[in-house]
Amino acid sequence: MDLLIRNETPEDYRQVEELTREAFWNLHVPGCNEHYLVHIMRSHPDFLPEFDFVAVFDNRIVGNIMYVKSCLINEEDLAIDTITFGPVSVLPEYQKKGVGSALIKNSIKKAIGYGYKAIIIEGHPYNYCKHGFVGSKSVNVGDSEGRYPYSLLVLEIEKGCLQNHEWKFHPSSVYDLNENDFSNYDKLFLPKEKGYKPTQEEFNIASNAFIE
Ligand SMILES: CC(C)(COP(=O)(O)OP(=O)(O)OC[C@H]1O[C@@H](n2cnc3c(N)ncnc32)[C@H](O)[C@@H]1OP(=O)(O)O)[C@@H](O)C(=O)NCCC(=O)NCCS
Repeated sequence: MDLLIRNETPEDYRQVEELTREAFWNLHVPGCNEHYLVHIMRSHPDFLPEFDFVAVFDNRIVGNIMYVKSCLINEEDLAIDTITFGPVSVLPEYQKKGVGSALIKNSIKKAIGYGYKAIIIEGHPYNYCKHGFVGSKSVNVGDSEGRYPYSLLVLEIEKGCLQNHEWKFHPSSVYDLNENDFSNYDKLFLPKEKGYKPTQEEFNIASNAFIE
């Protein structure tokens, strides 16, 4: 697949939000809110525009990945800057052709160049362990309550940098979505039927699971 990966520009915004909506619609819940997340992310102080990429095929945007700043704080109150991606989206008809992997690999390479120590994400292990992410417990990274969520995944860019400490992950506040604002924003898109998919139950199980 002859794919071009480049930074997103303002002219791409609507197309990226539409593709995000298509990729996530009914996937985790009936409907989705990830297109609204993408919309507010770009003006959030944690947003990293240099890590906002689109994948273009045949002059059409078929995929997108966006990053924000995050951090880890250890038991000695020492903080290290990390970065977090999500959402990552590929148009349904272009999935399973390598687009998502290309976006993820390209951004990991860029993160190495920028000197970030680790990438921390919340997502399905199936999608990310193949790119080197490990479960958070194996590198002592817990959530704010010190638990190890099944879906909290870590890629140490500087290998071993998290060793010998207990870390807590502090995600960006951009992920604390306001449901009312989201519903209003969705009205700007073509109506789409909300419904049930088994992936919603999988998501529910994964989001409520913790590693002992
Ligand atoms: C998750 C997502 C971003 C992955 O993107 P993608 O483009 O489908 O990913 P890839 O094509 O790189 O990899 C997917 C699979 O296709 C396979 N594949 C890649 N190129 C292929 C090709 N040319 N022919 C056949 N299979 C191929 C990969 O090996 C991989 O197989 P696996 O699932 O058995 O590991 C995309 O499916 C998506 O947008 N999903 C909906 C939103 C979502 O779930 N986002 C992530 C939230 S955690």
